[in-house]
Amino acid sequence: MKSLSDGFFSIDSKNGFLPIKEPLRNLPSRYETLQQLIDEMPVLKEDGTPGILANHGSIEEAIKILPNYLDLVKLEKDSFVNAALFRAYSFLASAYTLSPSHHKFLKTGKYGMANDRLPSNISQPFVYISNSLGVYPWLDYHYAYSLGNYFKIDKEKGFNWSNLSMAAKFSGMDDERGFIMLHVDINQHSPDLVKSAFGVANSKNNESSLNKSLKLFANTLKKINERRRVMWEASRWKHYNDFRVFIMGIKGNEEIFPNGLIYEGVWDKPKYFRGQTGAQDNIIPTADIVSGVINFYPENQLTKYLLDLRKYRPICVQNFFEILTKEMRSAPLLKRLTKTDNQLGMYHLMSAYEEIYFFRNGHWQFVQKYIMQNTKYAKATGGTPIISWIPNQIKAVFSAMQNLSDQMKDSNHWIKSKWIESYLKKVELLNKQLEILSIDTFNPESVFKLNEEIGLEDF
Ligand code: HEM
Repeated sequence: MKSLSDGFFSIDSKNGFLPIKEPLRNLPSRYETLQQLIDEMPVLKEDGTPGILANHGSIEEAIKILPNYLDLVKLEKDSFVNAALFRAYSFLASAYTLSPSHHKFLKTGKYGMANDRLPSNISQPFVYISNSLGVYPWLDYHYAYSLGNYFKIDKEKGFNWSNLSMAAKFSGMDDERGFIMLHVDINQHSPDLVKSAFGVANSKNNESSLNKSLKLFANTLKKINERRRVMWEASRWKHYNDFRVFIMGIKGNEEIFPNGLIYEGVWDKPKYFRGQTGAQDNIIPTADIVSGVINFYPENQLTKYLLDLRKYRPICVQNFFEILTKEMRSAPLLKRLTKTDNQLGMYHLMSAYEEIYFFRNGHWQFVQKYIMQNTKYAKATGGTPIISWIPNQIKAVFSAMQNLSDQMKDSNHWIKSKWIESYLKKVELLNKQLEILSIDTFNPESVFKLNEEIGLEDF
């Protein structure tokens, strides 16, 4: 059986997708100079003064004093030290390469070209540690920017974003903290999501246990959505550009990295890796696999991208998706529900679809506001053409809903005519938005306004 743990993550009903304990806030003292750079780096430091990234050209000077810790790194065995080292080198690599793009953006409103050679005192230990973890040597969502980067301010309190802070930062401003710590916050409900996913997969011939798991699945997605919605207050949309450039990838961002990135002292040829993105989070892919939305993904570049992003996750997460997919394929959910005409199970599944829709539609509103209204740069940090891709996945949810509704009958919980009315509103919203977007000179504000006009605004 493939492992679901790597000593840092353990994908189970206790930990969900969060690390098994709080990540290290600092590196061990043997990496003092590296830790100092991480602390001095943010545009705004913890003490409120400007850091290295506040000045054009400073990071290029600062990294010259960094020793090459390759020999030390090779001795490390502890998963938490390895994760913290990967995080530190990821931050340093992105800060060093993307600092010129950030400063050009401040001056001109356009991202300039990045530094395209990573010096060996960064690249050699970075690639070594990436190989030990089994991930690409570039800032990722799991070990580096998000899940492996939090510490609790008050250890007695929970995972609400306001009690979380970042161990390593780029801008150092509160909007960066709110943005990425909210991703951690949302994952506080992932243990129940994993529990319900295994529950659905394993209750093949037991209707009551299937219904119990489906109910937990839908309820957990609802809680996840409630936390997701808090993004609007955790991070102000106008401030997304303060840190966005630092999470860009090499792949798909030709304007920033036209020639890829040379890892000096490691590879002669340039490398291309995708950037950090919430699309590396596991909640929605898990929901899609369990609920069957994945069977309605269109066959296009977006689907290829989402599947490519599986490789940008820890191996234990990739194993989890593989096992779950196999289980769900061996006994497709809708077939199980229709075979016994399990109307209650169908109702729970429809509730889960509603939540997946609300997640994706709310998330689409994030994209409209945080990205489309802030910049004309049409590439997302993961390197995708934003506008055309995000709505595709909403359509996949519509198809799954339609298919399920064909099997459902009126009951105490669910009335078809009412459901159709609300479904048509959702379809109308997306169609109208796509109509506006089909014109080159579209106004992002009018796309956003439609959410409210049709009564589907996210807040
Ligand atoms: C202001 C907040 C956010 C913005 C601006 C945003 C932006 C984006 C963009 C542009 C993409 C396109 C793919 C790419 O990265 O290249 C994307 C994809 C994605 N994001 Fe986000 N995101 C935000 C918050 C979140 C959060 C909080 C989560 C979940 C924890 C999340 C989960 C996803 C997922 C699962 C995808 C893949 C597309 C899908 O399956 O529908 N995002 N996001």
